[in-house]
Amino acid sequence: MNLSCVILAAGLGKRMNSDLPKVLHKVCGIPMIQAVINTARELKPRKVIVVAGKHAGLIQQTVGADDIFFAVQEKPLGTADALRSARKGLRGLQGTVVVLNGDTPLISSRTITRFIRLHQRNRNSVSVLSFRAGNPAGYGRVVRDGKGRVLSIIEQKDADASVQKITEVNSGVYAVSHEALRLLDRIPANKAKGEFYLTDIVALAIRDGLRAAAYALGEESEFMGVNTPGELSRASALMREKIVASWTGKGVHFLDAGAVFIHPDVKIGRATTIYPNVYLEGKTAIGKGSVIYPNVRIIDSMIGDCVMIKDSSVIEGSLVKNNASVGPFAHVRPGSEVGPEARIGNFVELKKAVVGRGTKASHLSYLGDTVIGSGVNIGAGTITCNYDGVKKHATVIGDRVFVGSDTQFVAPVRIGRGAYIGAGSTITKDVPADALALSRSPQRHFEGWARKRQQKEKRKK
Ligand code: UD1
Ligand code: CA
Repeated sequence: MNLSCVILAAGLGKRMNSDLPKVLHKVCGIPMIQAVINTARELKPRKVIVVAGKHAGLIQQTVGADDIFFAVQEKPLGTADALRSARKGLRGLQGTVVVLNGDTPLISSRTITRFIRLHQRNRNSVSVLSFRAGNPAGYGRVVRDGKGRVLSIIEQKDADASVQKITEVNSGVYAVSHEALRLLDRIPANKAKGEFYLTDIVALAIRDGLRAAAYALGEESEFMGVNTPGELSRASALMREKIVASWTGKGVHFLDAGAVFIHPDVKIGRATTIYPNVYLEGKTAIGKGSVIYPNVRIIDSMIGDCVMIKDSSVIEGSLVKNNASVGPFAHVRPGSEVGPEARIGNFVELKKAVVGRGTKASHLSYLGDTVIGSGVNIGAGTITCNYDGVKKHATVIGDRVFVGSDTQFVAPVRIGRGAYIGAGSTITKDVPADALALSRSPQRHFEGWARKRQQKEKRKK
């Protein structure tokens, strides 16, 4: 299919009642225009052009990529004018121009592909993708003649009572042959709004004797246009459902499919179990046979196979390898790596911490800017003092080290393999391999001291 794609995203989005450009509002964690761009990419077009308006800079900054071109519509003069703004970028290309709306984030590439096939097979100059709306209010109505041939599209504002009753509506997806783009110059300004409506290209094509058609395909939910905050949350909910359903189909087990939030770029392996109130965000990937317990948020992280992430843990920008376990109540901050079979327990915080195979930090620790070898035991309450008020410093702990409870490592410091740190030590100097390091003050006893004190108090009374 010889295609190019134009995504219209220059409208003001006034109904959104927000300072953020409408198309940058998020559905299921990604800006809605990003969802449309992803769908456009699936069509494998020669070129994708996003038409943006006064917020072009911000939109480009947010979703810009090497394969996405931007055209600027100086003033929001309507959808036809928006497509006109993309014409320079379409020069030299042939075949079909597919127009998508930047505010229709749920549309599937499957439906669009079926639509383009119909357009090309029937050698149309202009085709409109339509659908039957349960409630057509707000959409342009597809007007057909007695024989079912499309005549025009009439916007809600211009529709009389009989047209308003029509439930076949314009989805905002069009296929236009390059030759038919010239019609854009002849679209008149709409009387009610003064804007140039792309919908008028249908009637204009018919008047010129060109082939035009409307095809009702797909299901209503995927064409939902987002114009208001209410529609945004409905679209988000629909997308969430679709994502969860697709992972269920691939063998992921959800205890409550209605209570998990999974961003579109997340990947999950087979036979992984996900408890309620779990958030999987950004570019997170989870392996096979893992279990994610309730109230967990994982952002941009790789979780291996057979991993357990226990209740109320947060993992960001990190790696958790096979058979490891994290939580409950753990915080794994960016740049960390939890080795295979390692165990990060309750109230443990990692930051830029590389933890080796089978190492355990089971309770109440802060481990930051540290490399910890394999088979290490980190006692409860261990803290890497990595910050001297100006700079961060590293703590390096060798394989098989035993760190007693309540140890502080004043970084920079290195602990040789196999060393033993007595509980309650403040380690300020490097410890040689296999040595015992002890820095706590020796314990002293004062015989009978407590009894004598008691007697003194009694005498006072
Ligand atoms: C539009 C269609 C309507 C269709 C509906 C589907 C027109 C006139 N109407 O209505 O028939 O049923 O979509 O959701 O086309 N845009 C620009 N520049 C502009 C104006 C709009 O780029 O000057 C962009 C917007 O950012 C948006 C898209 O075009 O992504 C549609 O504009 P919008 O104002 O939302 O049109 P609707 O009223 O929803
Ligand atoms: Ca719209």
